[in-house]
Amino acid sequence: MYPASLKGRSLLTWKDWTPEEIRFLLELSHAVKKSAHNNDVHQRFRGKTLAMIFEKRSTRTRCAFETSFSEEGGHPVFLSTHDIQLGAKESIEDTARVLGRMFSAIEFRGYKQSTVEILARESGVPVYNGLTDLYHPTQVLADVMTLEEVFRKHKGLKLCYVGDGRNNVARSLIIISSKLGINCTIVSPKELFTEQALLDECAVWAKESGAEITVTDDLDAVSGANAVYTDVWVSMGEEAESEMRRSLLLPYQVNEDLMKKTGNAACIFLHCLPAIKGEEVTVPVVEGSQSRVWDQAENRKHTIKAIMLATLMNPSV
Ligand code: CP
Ligand code: NVA
Repeated sequence: MYPASLKGRSLLTWKDWTPEEIRFLLELSHAVKKSAHNNDVHQRFRGKTLAMIFEKRSTRTRCAFETSFSEEGGHPVFLSTHDIQLGAKESIEDTARVLGRMFSAIEFRGYKQSTVEILARESGVPVYNGLTDLYHPTQVLADVMTLEEVFRKHKGLKLCYVGDGRNNVARSLIIISSKLGINCTIVSPKELFTEQALLDECAVWAKESGAEITVTDDLDAVSGANAVYTDVWVSMGEEAESEMRRSLLLPYQVNEDLMKKTGNAACIFLHCLPAIKGEEVTVPVVEGSQSRVWDQAENRKHTIKAIMLATLMNPSV
């Protein structure tokens, strides 16, 4: 059943979405994928327009938004910060008001979470967070979809994220896991632990869903994992910290020894990509039989289309 609460909604972080709404999006994502693989043709975004603002680089997110919107008859417009006045000659508020008059929805990838919040507040149209310094919500929906494809469920699975525990992907995994009852273990050096304030916020949702959220520097915590997940050691915008990150995170590289430590031959490997092979993950792991990273990347498109269908239309599953 389509939750009417979704029409016109923005996705800035999963914090303000209910577990039921997220589960609906997952169900819709699977239906969207099936339909895509059947080569079905739909025109559900005909007459609609999407502004896509990118302050940071992107392959998957940009292509997922752009192809899924245009193949349904919509018109996406890519706007890098070299092209528009945003932040240079014009305030975020004024940009939002103008874009809201011309576009059906706005996607934003960039630095500050406050930018995407202002865009949502001032534009009057749905705004989608395509990654900020704090969160990467569209990514983790695709990650849960990938878990469901492999394990036929998500609740009760043990997802171990190994790496920088305070980056946008780790933070978003903790949020969605606590909403959906996924047992999420963040394995990270103490210096890069997820901040307590976010963990406290998530504890409330985790109590309701039954999720166990753990943050530890102990690599043995991967024992029994259903999935091991990692991300780059240096996120976009943090290049000045590269050397410090590398020395802190070297012991946390996902390699064959670490995958063996799970004690679970059926454990899968996930990575949001792009991957720096030889840093956070070795070639044998990312290219190996346990890796599901290409399905995960494909699922970015289906989940992003589902998010736009749910917030712009009244889709049925
Ligand atoms: N995973 C992800 O967001 O990839 P891009 O940076 O290529 O969009
Ligand atoms: N944490 C990474 C994710 C890239 C998709 C970054 O922000 O660069």
